[in-house]
Amino acid sequence: MSPIRSRSLLALLICLALAGAFSQETPTAIRADHATQRNTSDPWWKHAVIYEIYPRSFQDSNGDGVGDINGITQRLDYLKDLGVDAIWITPMYPSPQVDFGYDISDYTAIDPQYGTMADFDRLVKEAKARNIRVIMDFVANHTSDQNPWFIESRSSRTNPKRDWYIWRDGKGPAQPPNNWLSWFGHSAWTFDGKTGQYYYHYFYPQQPDLNWRNPQVRQAMMDVLRFWMDRGVAGFRIDAVSRLYEDPKLHDDPLLPGKNAYGDPNIEHKYTDNLPEVHDALREMRQVVDQYPGNPVLISEADEPNIIELTKMYGSRLDEVQLPMDFQVADVNRLSAPRFRELIDQIDHNAVGGQPYFFFNNHDQDRTWNRYGDGVHNDDIAKLMAALLLTTRATPQMYYGEEIGMVTTTPSRKEDVKDPIGKIGWPKEKGRDGERTPMQWDTSTNAGFSASAKPWLSVPASYTTRNVEVEEKEPNSILSFYKQLIALRRSLPALRDGSYIALNRQDPDVLSYLRRNRANGESVLVVLNMSNQAKTVSFDLMPEEISGSSAKPLLSNPSTGTAAVPLNAVPMAPFGTFVGAVK
Ligand code: GLC
Repeated sequence: MSPIRSRSLLALLICLALAGAFSQETPTAIRADHATQRNTSDPWWKHAVIYEIYPRSFQDSNGDGVGDINGITQRLDYLKDLGVDAIWITPMYPSPQVDFGYDISDYTAIDPQYGTMADFDRLVKEAKARNIRVIMDFVANHTSDQNPWFIESRSSRTNPKRDWYIWRDGKGPAQPPNNWLSWFGHSAWTFDGKTGQYYYHYFYPQQPDLNWRNPQVRQAMMDVLRFWMDRGVAGFRIDAVSRLYEDPKLHDDPLLPGKNAYGDPNIEHKYTDNLPEVHDALREMRQVVDQYPGNPVLISEADEPNIIELTKMYGSRLDEVQLPMDFQVADVNRLSAPRFRELIDQIDHNAVGGQPYFFFNNHDQDRTWNRYGDGVHNDDIAKLMAALLLTTRATPQMYYGEEIGMVTTTPSRKEDVKDPIGKIGWPKEKGRDGERTPMQWDTSTNAGFSASAKPWLSVPASYTTRNVEVEEKEPNSILSFYKQLIALRRSLPALRDGSYIALNRQDPDVLSYLRRNRANGESVLVVLNMSNQAKTVSFDLMPEEISGSSAKPLLSNPSTGTAAVPLNAVPMAPFGTFVGAVK
């Protein structure tokens, strides 16, 4: 047994001992619920904790400085101990890596730098043996310009695959067809001298957009879904889904005031985002995966501008995506109790029959530790954000390293930047390398990520104290907090699938809510102090027909001990977190 494995077991035993302590003290109603109230007809994804892995940065098994599939397989026991139910792996398909895998040159193969198809099959098998499902990334909007489909398409105006992409004449000499801008800077059109036309790309020029209006493209992409479903995956995270279609008449997008980080005028992406046809495509994808057993899941990446667009992703008959990522919640970017309350209310009331899906970290945005940290209480704030993620009704998605409080480590010199948007946008936009640095496993060289002399991105200096090995041994660490939260979410039906009831709606600083399992009266009270002031919070739960006058701590930061806390005076430290069972 490796030292890491034995330490994980130790941590698990500590967690089990703590859980035992909770249950001894837990109200009778909750104990009864554990045994009887599981709703077993729910699909797995409704109660899952989904963990995003950026394969380049998780674990390098062969010393080439880049993470790989066998590295992920090596770390499955860690994920199991953490309490993860499914992993979403960002693209591992063959790719020139211009956008680090989001430029795919072959949808049905594995990039040799990540391993082989046999390695992939073994990963799926080993994950399954640990009850961990594997979710693939489906990059539907665009391919790599090195994809044979595009190579054919650009070869002549009459090539059968010409219409697989969006080719148009310029408006005039050296003028693109319209003013559409790439999300990654500058015109969304690139001129191809060989055939004298422009092709459209929402992202980099090396990522030409597929033409989803062409039935052959749709067919080919549905076959990609089938290919991976046949290999035993549990579903897909669909990349950039709201951008699948563009206005066929090519209207210019409306201009907005100011300029973006790349120096282009700001525009509203009115004619390239959220066209109604997106929903036809989503329905078709759903029909394909629904032909497989095991409740496959579709997750959509789309920074929907409002709750209306977000809830459309479920489909009018809940026949599209089961888990649309809620970017509104992810992008609050400040500790604001009123704003979080408003957004949680919105999705709770509007996603009728649909399951909310929350996350705060991913491979495209600054890590929460920095985004929400105040420079003094960052660890407390990281725990508070973990509690918010793991105690609402939403299915939670984590990103590797958030459970140890990994810090965004942005390159300080342009020449070190790997992400092209950091090169194009420097210094205003420094790219996304900062949130993609290698996972910090232990105190050894390169934090145990790689034996290479030079990993693809440097390991942040923080690794000596902020790593799995150190935090597993520390009961108050962020990692221990995550493990306990995940264990509570798994074991308490009120947290698993209880209703959400906002409390103290007028409180400007403290976000409080109940999760309630009405079947047996179990309630869990969550109190998150989003201010830097100590607070004493009072609750009147009579309107909820809860007569108890105290809450039994299940998990708190800083720890409030195990004695019941009176509901008319719950003491909250600055940025404190309290999760308690209400009698
Ligand atoms: C998504 C991915 C991002 C990528 C982009 C283009 O937003 O999350 O990493 O750069 O799509 O594929």
